[in-house]
Amino acid sequence: MNNFDLVVRRARVATAADTFDADIGIVDGRIVQIGLQLAAGRQEIDAAGRVVTPGGVDAHCHLDQPMPAPIRMADDFDTGTRAAACGGTTTVIPFAAQQKGQSLRAAVADYHRRAEGQAHVDYAFHLIVSDPTPTVLEEELPALIREGYTSFKIYMTYDDLKLNDGQILDVLEVGRRHGAMVMIHAENADCIEWLTKRLEAAGRTAPRFHAHARPMLVEREATHRAISLAELVDVPILLVHVSGREAVEQIRWARAHGLKVFAETCPQYLFLTAADLGIDDSYLGARCVCSPPPRDKQNQAVIWDALNDGVFTVFSSDHAPFRYEGADGKKPGGAEVAFRHIPNGIPGIETRMALLYSEGVLGGRMTLSRFVELTATNPAKAFGLHPRKGTIAVGADADLVIWDEREFVLENRHLHHAVDYTPFAGQTLRAWPALTLARGEVAWDGQDFHPRRGRGRFLACGAPTLLPRAKADA
Ligand code: URP
Ligand code: ZN
Ligand code: ZN
Repeated sequence: MNNFDLVVRRARVATAADTFDADIGIVDGRIVQIGLQLAAGRQEIDAAGRVVTPGGVDAHCHLDQPMPAPIRMADDFDTGTRAAACGGTTTVIPFAAQQKGQSLRAAVADYHRRAEGQAHVDYAFHLIVSDPTPTVLEEELPALIREGYTSFKIYMTYDDLKLNDGQILDVLEVGRRHGAMVMIHAENADCIEWLTKRLEAAGRTAPRFHAHARPMLVEREATHRAISLAELVDVPILLVHVSGREAVEQIRWARAHGLKVFAETCPQYLFLTAADLGIDDSYLGARCVCSPPPRDKQNQAVIWDALNDGVFTVFSSDHAPFRYEGADGKKPGGAEVAFRHIPNGIPGIETRMALLYSEGVLGGRMTLSRFVELTATNPAKAFGLHPRKGTIAVGADADLVIWDEREFVLENRHLHHAVDYTPFAGQTLRAWPALTLARGEVAWDGQDFHPRRGRGRFLACGAPTLLPRAKADA
């Protein structure tokens, strides 16, 4: 009799703690045994000494998020989770974004409609709180946290999203009271607007000037302010998409002072520089417009160091997919517009894992365990999905990636998103998933995607487990 639905044999299993050789036995989409010479399964996959990691948890991606017309995100829950699976990510946490004036409940219901029956890998939602009314703060957020939406993002920039310091304090207080994780986009909106107007007055509107309007000091100041506001409320925060030295220094300072400040970075701050937004006024640079903007080689080195020494807890894609051609993406209405009107964000949900595995692990910059921690285990812990997600352990979901270590030059035709470019084209990759299992089902076999809309289920998140749970206020 076969005990297992599936056995992955002779795996070089990598977790955040260590690396060891084992077979992995799977029943009903869960890992039920890890050991040597397991009994036969109904299906067998020979990993033959290849590295097997937990499926990635991409804790920062934007899918099908409504945009002002005519702009539209290229990836919805079908194509976005297809790309995720082919790149070794088996859990995504996109955002249910509240429009100003909208109830959070309505935003969450809208996102469930968008995702229901569409996703190929599991998903949870962060909330984006853009309108923290008394009802939102006192009723909706506490109830939604109880129901499994245990994290929310707030913005210090973007006119339609930004909160002032008082509003930020109010939201942080809800996070403290109810044990939720508050993610902060830290850039000083007024500085950006002031610089943007001056650049426009001087006729400097090409994509590359996006980076001039957002120098690192605007991120540094907002990072420091976010840390101070969190210190005042005494609540952990997660600073997202940290781009370089000045913000990293603020985070190191906060940690040295005992503050519970977590941080995330993304592939664009390791593999792109401001030069990718253009060295002349070509519009092609619009493809790499994101906020904060990529910096320079020295800052890339700072980010690599901070990934290794623990400043960063989470490595996410910040996948924000807009097509380059057409009227709904980087050229709104079909026109080459001034940089302030270029939709911010770049695609990266499929390339996140392979870029870090290639340059980090195989490039000798980080251990395999640190790779697993940053791409899977820590994001699962930060958002209350661990140990079901983000690890290889008995009882965990059988979300696994078998890695194929082979060198190739990345082109957009290799990818499965609905975007017409990748900002990482031309990068030499040294690895790509040979197989992705999503709750025990083959979702990607190294050649072909195995679709099953609805395979991906909604995950209600628990409390973050990166820290011992803070005592709730009376
Ligand atoms: O430019 C970016 N990062 N776009 C996505 C939205 C966000 O702020 O994360
Ligand atoms: Zn952001
Ligand atoms: Zn984002």
